[in-house]
Amino acid sequence: MKASIDPWNVKEVKDYNKLMKDLGVDSFHEHAKKLKDAPPPIRRGLVLGHKDFSKILHAIQNKQKFAILTGLMPSGNFHFGHMSLIQQVIYYQKLGAKIYLCVADLEAMLTRNFNKEQAREIAINEYLLNYLALGLSTKNLHFYFQTEGNSEYNNLSKLASAKTTYNEVRNIYGEISPAKLISALTQAADILLPQLEGIPLTLTPVGFDQLPHANFTRDIAGRMNFSLPTFTFHKLIPGLQGVTTKMSSSKPESYIAFDDDEKTIAKKIYKYAFSGGQGTIEEHRKKGGNPDNDVSFQWLKYLFEEDDKKLEQLHHDYKTGKLLTSELKLILIEKIVNFLKQHNQRKEKARKDVDKIIKN
Ligand code: TRP
Repeated sequence: MKASIDPWNVKEVKDYNKLMKDLGVDSFHEHAKKLKDAPPPIRRGLVLGHKDFSKILHAIQNKQKFAILTGLMPSGNFHFGHMSLIQQVIYYQKLGAKIYLCVADLEAMLTRNFNKEQAREIAINEYLLNYLALGLSTKNLHFYFQTEGNSEYNNLSKLASAKTTYNEVRNIYGEISPAKLISALTQAADILLPQLEGIPLTLTPVGFDQLPHANFTRDIAGRMNFSLPTFTFHKLIPGLQGVTTKMSSSKPESYIAFDDDEKTIAKKIYKYAFSGGQGTIEEHRKKGGNPDNDVSFQWLKYLFEEDDKKLEQLHHDYKTGKLLTSELKLILIEKIVNFLKQHNQRKEKARKDVDKIIKN
């Protein structure tokens, strides 16, 4: 059977390679190697797939203009599962791309039972504030809400409906509600928005859960004489319960939040972070651990250990049994606590920038 994915209800993805093959996604590996000074998600393989990225690489190498457009779903706390996306965005912003960030408040109202005020509050005080503290610049940034788009954008989301059929929708999404279909059409308009503003070359970095939207948008774009938007797809950062689980805003024991205190962080990691180590110390020393199955190692790899040499050393020491699970966990806890200390200071400064972006 062909692999499929429901963007409104992501289950864990067990086999990314099959998903990529079945849904027409190419490997990002060769491209990643050509991106200089890229952040860990790009450099260490979290970004696994793409559509048409060679166009973006060409633009980067030839200093041509391109835009990034991606979105956020304002329906819960900002947690570490959300960090890798904004790291990618910041990287491209530094390379000179204009950044469009879309708050999917309409989608949150249509599919998650949120009201507009709740969604707005989360988008600003959870997402935007943390994005800025993580290094997103207010320059070359267009931050907008789906509910506040102009009429050209609003019309585009409606006109897109004439360029698809129920058959196609069913093929891509399965049976979906009218509200979900409207969300999908709105997202297509989001992804084409930079083109309305005169930037034909765009990249939309997203998680693999958004893949059906990428295919839907590209189909529609082709039929409406837009350029085909390009995409990259990243794997989900694992939840604490295991490398194939996900961090879920409704399950606090699955993630570390940006406002968890030191004690909570230590407790969650000691208690829940799935270990790739052996059952006893003796056995661990003899056989070594498996970093690929170890959530603490994966978090260090994708989020917290910037230094490639240090990461390599940890990998080696863990695999050969020199480093115990409890020691690895302690390293991770210290990294997170340190990170958050600095992050909270940067957050204070970022409040001014929030006010610059959100006027009223
Ligand atoms: N559907 C996305 C999510 O659930 C949010 C979103 C809306 C989006 N418009 C977008 C993502 C455009 C990327 C590009 O997170």
